[in-house]
Amino acid sequence: MKFDSRLLIAGLVLIGGIAIAGEATDPDAKARQDLMDANGGAMKILGGMASGEVAFDAAAAAAAAKTLTDNAAGIETAFKTKGAGDPKSAAKDEIWTDWDNFLKAAAALGTAAAALDTSSADGIKAGLGAVGGACKQCHTTYKAAS
Ligand code: HEC
Repeated sequence: MKFDSRLLIAGLVLIGGIAIAGEATDPDAKARQDLMDANGGAMKILGGMASGEVAFDAAAAAAAAKTLTDNAAGIETAFKTKGAGDPKSAAKDEIWTDWDNFLKAAAALGTAAAALDTSSADGIKAGLGAVGGACKQCHTTYKAAS
């Protein structure tokens, strides 16, 4: 299948960007939002390199991919405590009523990020769709639209 990868990348960067509804003040909500903001930053770097907007830099690409795998592994701890119900949190109750499936969505991100070939811009381009898909899949089910 042929498609315009620049469009795909633009979409992926959007996933990272649009979601920020406002910073929560509740410490539990803020901790998970900070983790997610770092995901957005990593996707921006990788998306920029995949599209050619940012010069390819192997060390920066590997660091961004590591941020994603580390954060995927950290989702369980970051989301464990629901907190005080901060109105600026977009976390849906389904996270805690459907915890095992939520963790599966986190693991899917870890798998996609670990599989990312960061040795070239083409490698990033080839695998970034799967990573963005893992972000989107979880957001669709567990994150309120903002
Ligand atoms: C396992 C589920 C899950 C995965 C995977 C996931 N997210 Fe999230 N994300 C959430 C939830 C839930 C929220 C809402 C958190 C809140 O507001 O309390 C969120 C919020 C965000 C936010 C907004 C943070 C803020 O400051 O309000 C950004 C940006 C974000 N995610 C980016 C990403 C990116 C990029 C990826 C993939 C690399 C990703 N997320 C993967 C569940 C997930």
